[in-house]
Amino acid sequence: MKKRILTGITTTGTPHVGNYLGAIKPSLELAEENSESFFFLADYHALIKTQNTIDIKASVKDVALAWLSSGLDTDKSYFYKQSDIKEITELSWILTCITAKGLMNRAHAYKAAIAENKSDEDKGINMGLFSYPILMASDILIFNSTHVPVGSDQLQHLEMTRDIAQRFNHLYKKTFNIPEAIVQEDKKVIPGLDGRKMSKSYNNIIPLLSDEKTLKKSIAKIVTNSLEPGDPKDPNGCNVFNLYTQFASLEQQSQFKNDYKEGISWGDAKNKLFNLINLELMPIRDKYNKLQEDKNLVNELLDAGAAKVRPLASEMLGELREIVGISKIE
Ligand code: TRP
Repeated sequence: MKKRILTGITTTGTPHVGNYLGAIKPSLELAEENSESFFFLADYHALIKTQNTIDIKASVKDVALAWLSSGLDTDKSYFYKQSDIKEITELSWILTCITAKGLMNRAHAYKAAIAENKSDEDKGINMGLFSYPILMASDILIFNSTHVPVGSDQLQHLEMTRDIAQRFNHLYKKTFNIPEAIVQEDKKVIPGLDGRKMSKSYNNIIPLLSDEKTLKKSIAKIVTNSLEPGDPKDPNGCNVFNLYTQFASLEQQSQFKNDYKEGISWGDAKNKLFNLINLELMPIRDKYNKLQEDKNLVNELLDAGAAKVRPLASEMLGELREIVGISKIE
């Protein structure tokens, strides 16, 4: 069977270096091989986190342009917006009805949210957050994906997708392929400015598509210790060094390690990091600026993407409806 690679990015906020290194770049590298690829904008996932309509639209546009600027070829892949494929939300209900509540109770994202609450553990928690893993399972299973490149924080969701698929197969008949997660070993967690996982929720991102000045400014904000220039520094656990390794060759990394031993100043270390990141992001930024001039481009590409991918979704959903008994009476 041909590999079917699928990954999505939630459309909240501006695309950042974590999205690029964790999802976009590895997915595009995988897509070079003999496989089919499905890349999409998870805009229904965004509704779980925000009611800001302007924000969602701006994010859909920028995340789409981030994919395109990073080299996605819409002729060679399926590129679409989750909300355009209504079959996905329909499948989500079918899967909701066979998913154990206990499985959802165990989801890290949900558990973290209730843990933050004091007297009323459900305060501010919507059912979307609770059922999030089921919508994600639907994204993946509707196309019978085989490989899903994700950041390590999404591994539990992939496990849940596998559980749900297996349960469906067991209750009805073997229908779904059991998909595998692909996590890049050396890029497990992309650290943000404060060393925690780079995420819009932590307000610690390095933007992907910003101008040089903004990029430089955000790199300047990376948290370091207070060692003086000339003091030897430890690269282990250093936020600047960790980010550097995400972009650097092994040779560049060992050179940088040496700089640390020789007491490079934090200013110089950050400059080196900026130069390296900037070199990789420059062509992406240039392409983004160019593509942005065509105001209709994203809508046109997403409409074409939806038209291309919907027949697949609709065929699958038709089969599923038959299987569960939601079809014409005989
Ligand atoms: N939940 C993922 C994230 O927040 C985004 C996502 C939604 C996704 N559906 C998906 C990723 C399906 C892979 C496959 O990063």
